[in-house]
Amino acid sequence: MENSEINVGHSMPRIGDNAPNFKAKTTKGAIQFSDFAPDKWVVLFSHPADFTPVCTTEMSGFAIRKDEFTALNTELLGLSIDSIHSHLAWVNNVREKTGVYFDFPIIADIDMKVSKLYGMLQPNESETAAVRAVFFIDPKKKIRLIMYYPLNVGRNMDEILRSLEALQISDENGVAMPLDWKKGDKVIVPPPKTLDEMNDRMADNSLEKVDFYLAKKSI
Ligand code: BEZ
Repeated sequence: MENSEINVGHSMPRIGDNAPNFKAKTTKGAIQFSDFAPDKWVVLFSHPADFTPVCTTEMSGFAIRKDEFTALNTELLGLSIDSIHSHLAWVNNVREKTGVYFDFPIIADIDMKVSKLYGMLQPNESETAAVRAVFFIDPKKKIRLIMYYPLNVGRNMDEILRSLEALQISDENGVAMPLDWKKGDKVIVPPPKTLDEMNDRMADNSLEKVDFYLAKKSI
């Protein structure tokens, strides 16, 4: 069968879905996802393979900026289709060579169970390695944002942190984030839904307005 004919054969999780539960072995011991990081956000991310160059830069990026995730009440959870032995050897090797320590759990998904459950195995890209996925999962274990990158392009850590912060500030303030929003920028207030609300919006001089449906405020 040509690669292009391979059917995924299972559903992909979507934004708004409850994060599928699973049990897995990790570099920090066994976990049951439903009990993992109670009351916290989780950034669940996959990489194609241990001991590969792009993955090493990405995992190091997560490790170096772990404190910023902690400050956002967020636990990191990595994954690849590799054994625990491989993970441990890689973590140790990177620490020896660069001083960077991957101090967060990495799932050893050797049977591909979690990869398949989360649509991380995309067979037309690779039949044996997970793509570079990032799932942003809120404290109620709901999937709120998904990124998928191919094998040959590393992710952007600033964008991962920006997305996480945008989700949290949006939730806390009932607002939406415009193009290229970053912390400190004005945010979008929800558009009016009735004529009365529209008229109130038109009369509100506290907002930066293009028109009633596009208005921003500082928070
Ligand atoms: C890498 O991380 O460098 C990589 C892994 C799998 C395929 C291609 C590149």
